[in-house]
Amino acid sequence: MKLISTFFILSIIINCCFSVIPTSVRLAFGKNQDEVRVTWWTDDSMDSPVVLYNTEMFLPEQDSASGQEATVMDYDTLGFHGHPTTAVLSGLKEMTQYFYTVGNKNSGEYTEVYNFTTGKINQLGEITPFTFSIFGDMGYGGKGLDSDFYTVANLYERSNDLAFNIHVGDIAYADETWDSAINGNQTVWNQFLDSINPVSSHLIYMTCPGNHDIFYDLSVYRRTWLMPTDDSYEVSWYSFDYNGVHFVGISSEHDFLPLSEQHTWIENDLNTFRSKNPDSWIVMFAHRPFYCSTVWNWCNTTKDDLKKAFVYSLENLLYKYNVDMFISGHTHSSERTLPTYDGKPLGTYSNPKATIHITVGTGGNSEGNQHNWYPQPIWSSGYRISDNGFGLMNFINSTTLSWQFVANINNTIVDEIFITKGQF
Ligand SMILES: *[C@@H]1O[C@H](CO)[C@@H](O)[C@H](O)[C@H]1NC(C)=O
Ligand SMILES: *[C@@H]1O[C@H](CO)[C@@H](O)[C@H](O)[C@H]1NC(C)=O
Ligand SMILES: *[C@@H]1O[C@H](CO)[C@@H](O)[C@H](O)[C@H]1NC(C)=O
Ligand SMILES: *[C@@H]1O[C@H](CO)[C@@H](O)[C@H](O)[C@H]1NC(C)=O
Ligand SMILES: *[C@@H]1O[C@H](CO)[C@@H](O)[C@H](O)[C@H]1NC(C)=O
Ligand SMILES: [Fe+2]
Repeated sequence: MKLISTFFILSIIINCCFSVIPTSVRLAFGKNQDEVRVTWWTDDSMDSPVVLYNTEMFLPEQDSASGQEATVMDYDTLGFHGHPTTAVLSGLKEMTQYFYTVGNKNSGEYTEVYNFTTGKINQLGEITPFTFSIFGDMGYGGKGLDSDFYTVANLYERSNDLAFNIHVGDIAYADETWDSAINGNQTVWNQFLDSINPVSSHLIYMTCPGNHDIFYDLSVYRRTWLMPTDDSYEVSWYSFDYNGVHFVGISSEHDFLPLSEQHTWIENDLNTFRSKNPDSWIVMFAHRPFYCSTVWNWCNTTKDDLKKAFVYSLENLLYKYNVDMFISGHTHSSERTLPTYDGKPLGTYSNPKATIHITVGTGGNSEGNQHNWYPQPIWSSGYRISDNGFGLMNFINSTTLSWQFVANINNTIVDEIFITKGQF
């Protein structure tokens, strides 16, 4: 009797403070084109985590949806506390809208019903038109018109027209409230994830690590952003195909020198794709740029040894495998190069003879933007802007794409160029 009542009281105490309310829901591409990964976060561990999904709207309490069990991870050894929880939905139909909710089956706690739309699984070289958004260096809690809130709001407003989003590193800036005891602040991390929830629960949200994401040896980054890498806990580089375009996400925060694991992987990925798809678009992205011209060490080719090593190690692969576009952040501004290799412009936008490089580190983080520019380099298109905003890349067909920059201040496209597929 005594035992039972003690147990009863204990269970009330546990239930009172037990929170498995799912928050910060995120979508990512899976390893296969018919897969989407759903990841979320809870304070305490769910005992029966599940994603319910259907091609029609449903109510979680009705049994009309398929369920996919999820896996619970934890942060407890990292100074962070809580439970990233994740599931892969597979066998999804192409170009189909799915409705889904995540929750705990036993307690019946679910999020609202969100939706996403799958892409087209294309044959080699064939393009189905689409637009994706891309930016870097966002963070949480920027001030006024320069803040991340405008990026999120403007992206959300456009999100029904977008296929997916890429955040090219420097994600939450959770390492900027350092004190002696910690080097990553979970409050900031969670605030960031909650703030992007409307976008990341609806659009596939792909990432690569930036210098502000590598705290705790990337263990927080990698448990949050489960990208389709060969091993989500060990490596941070991956590729995926969408509607006929090949995307390669790499890490400027890891060893990229020739013969490194990453360098070998990149060359192998590009070679494998390019040998079978001589005429397809390839888009590559990383946090740090090869070309930029704000007054800053990273943008000054004579000043930064890491920059020199980065360019020396990787730029030749972009040229060799005809990587059409390279997009990055790191410098808090946006600029685009002419088609460029080895510091020299080669060809034009209508006949590119080298990769076109774009920086878009304009997500709106609280460090502010870079407003001072070096004199215009020969590889520069002349388009250089310090306003916050994000890029839109529109694939029109197998030979034409357009790039647009949306300024946050008025949610307006302030730069647009058309690019023809180059052969080099
Ligand atoms: C899908 O989600 C988006 C973003 O929340 C919303 O704008 C849209 O109306 C939803 N679509 C449907 C059919 O409910
Ligand atoms: C973590 O960030 C929150 C929100 O900005 C702040 O209130 C708190 O003091 C920070 N914690 C540490 C240890 O810096
Ligand atoms: C790069 O830095 C060097 C050394 O400080 C300086 O002399 C040079 O002018 C800088 N480059 C540019 C493009 O300004
Ligand atoms: C691709 O689209 C562009 C711009 O609309 C057009 O000029 C071109 O003819 C199209 N090419 C093909 C192969 O459809
Ligand atoms: C929007 O803001 C940008 C950046 O300040 C400015 O260049 C552009 O003219 C504005 N466009 C409109 C339509 O107001
Ligand atoms: Fe950065």
